Amino acid sequence: MNPDFKRTLVTAALPYANGPVHIGHLAGCYLPSDIYVRYLRSIGHDVKFICGSDEHGVPITIKAKNEGVSPQAVVDKYHKIMGDAFKEFGISFDIYSRTSSKIHHQTASDIFRVLYDKKVFTEQVTEQYYDETAQQFLADRYIIGTCPNCKNPNAYGDQCEKCGSTLNPLDLIDPKSTLSGNKPVLRKTKNWFLPLDKLQPKIKEYIDKHSDWRPTVYGQCKSWLNSGDGLQPRAMTRDLDWGIPVPVEGAEGKVLYVWFDAPIGYISATKELLPDTWENYWKKKDTRLIHFIGKDNIVFHCIIFPAVLMEHGEFILPDNVPANEFLNLEGDKISTSRNWAVWLHEYLLDFKGKQDVLRYTLCANAPETKDNDFTWKDFQTKNNSELVAIFGNFVNRTLVLTHKYYNGVVPDPTRYTKEDLLLLEELAAAPDKIAKAIEQFKFREALSEWMNLARIGNKYLAETEPWKLIKTNEERVKTIMNIALQITCNLAILAEPFLPFTSAKLFAMLNLPVLKWPSAKQTSNLASAHVINKDELLFSKVEDADILPQLERLANSKLHNSIPAMAAEIKPETSFDDFSKMDIRTATILEAEAVPKTDKLLKLLLDTGLDKRIVVSGIAAYYKPEEIIGQKVCLLANLAPRKIKGIESQGMILMAENAKGELSFVSPTKNETDNGSVVK
Ligand code: MF3
Ligand code: ZN
Repeated sequence: MNPDFKRTLVTAALPYANGPVHIGHLAGCYLPSDIYVRYLRSIGHDVKFICGSDEHGVPITIKAKNEGVSPQAVVDKYHKIMGDAFKEFGISFDIYSRTSSKIHHQTASDIFRVLYDKKVFTEQVTEQYYDETAQQFLADRYIIGTCPNCKNPNAYGDQCEKCGSTLNPLDLIDPKSTLSGNKPVLRKTKNWFLPLDKLQPKIKEYIDKHSDWRPTVYGQCKSWLNSGDGLQPRAMTRDLDWGIPVPVEGAEGKVLYVWFDAPIGYISATKELLPDTWENYWKKKDTRLIHFIGKDNIVFHCIIFPAVLMEHGEFILPDNVPANEFLNLEGDKISTSRNWAVWLHEYLLDFKGKQDVLRYTLCANAPETKDNDFTWKDFQTKNNSELVAIFGNFVNRTLVLTHKYYNGVVPDPTRYTKEDLLLLEELAAAPDKIAKAIEQFKFREALSEWMNLARIGNKYLAETEPWKLIKTNEERVKTIMNIALQITCNLAILAEPFLPFTSAKLFAMLNLPVLKWPSAKQTSNLASAHVINKDELLFSKVEDADILPQLERLANSKLHNSIPAMAAEIKPETSFDDFSKMDIRTATILEAEAVPKTDKLLKLLLDTGLDKRIVVSGIAAYYKPEEIIGQKVCLLANLAPRKIKGIESQGMILMAENAKGELSFVSPTKNETDNGSVVK
């Protein structure tokens, strides 16, 4: 820890309160921030962990419209669901607040007002897109179109999620209203802009000081600063009715831009948590401010929010913004609308008590430097070959043998061998190694160092074989088991940030109070003669049968979301005369058989009411011969006969073909329609 900093404020992006939490959220910012904070708490650092629901903006009003309820009802519902899910997965926020709260409205209004009074904003009347059907302006996600930078056809009015660029609705090529699907019109309206163009030199100076940020984050910032015309002014107000009213005269019917108010939510939540001391965390130079986010939030946290803070003047600026890339699921982008996700509340129903397995898998696979993939197979492997086979196995052997040989009493180490001493040295060095990785936001590396320690323990037992040695050298076994127990104890300490539930269970089994990080630098946390508790299994195998339903569920989502094929286009106009030339009759299939050496054709014998005739029809892929005997059909009866596979076909049966090319009979719906009835 850099000693210049006396305290740290950690924030995790405020999720939109418009749907439940999935693994992408967890892997993207809530798990890494939680690991970081738990570690800081464990080393005794002064840290606060802030989050809450982002309850304004178009994502909320769109959801409200889809569900047919008020925006307030939407955020009330999801604020609760999300807060509960985070808690169940051990995400240890000091506060989970919300931006519809009074304190937040007040804080955001005040900050806007300060900037307004300092004449930071430029007031501009511009033409904005307006939907005449919906009778409203189309800000942000109310409008989609083609991204001018990467040509993604589904870019939002404020951002292209494909290439990450921030956009204004007017940048979009071929814009469409997401409310009505209409092409919008332009209408004049007044808004307040943050002149990022003018602020560019200050922002550049700030970014340049942070070349230590993750390359993906620093690189994105630099590329915005260096892009064509540099930063552009950005409206901080919107013509919408859901949000925080713009607190100045002449702004009736307008609200603050959600990306103006939401990051201020970090400040409001800190105030709510610490009414008396919140300023220590926001205004003192020896406080370190860290924002954990997903990569689609970089510009807002690294450029726009710092610009607001700078112009306000009283606040510290973010010291680091460890943004993660995206987590995919089984090779596809996670998507709420396509139900391509693993929802936390559903996971818990199927894998009760296995929160740490998901935490482990998501951390081991964290998308820190590039997008990554979550697969159920990998989840199973990580559980079975790492948590069960390495860590679980080591702990279990150690505790079981301690009970067996010593009735649970920690034995005295009698004499250390050279190998023992080397191992103890390695054990004592582990906390610093793991700490270094955590402090650099390299959580995968940190976790793998931790697992490595369990590996070392496992290897130690495998090599020293206390279960054999007990017959010949009881004294030696005491030392071996003491060392194994010390490793177990330190594993419990160091596991806490990553696997808090497991760590707590292990401390209980060791009959110890929860020990903090610095204790893990010692190798004698379990005193001789201390009595441990009964052991329980920490992890159990995940079987194929456990992941199968998950894969099936995803396969189902795929099926339901395969893009519906479009109906064929209408043919050119024809005349009634031409139509009347066709003699279409109802008929009944009397016999049916497959045409040899083909897999498409059936040979049918039809009763047409006038005669019995043979028709060859390409329907074998859709109907079995035996199931269509007696079927009523429509027949084009005056079609010139044709030879098909050596059989003369006298006419053609009418079939309806859907967009997927599947065929179905067209048939009269009443029994009184005798064979030979004219279809017209
Ligand atoms: N709600 C935004 C999202 O889900 C994140 C907001 S982060 C904020 O992408 F705190 F700055 F608001
Ligand atoms: Zn783009």
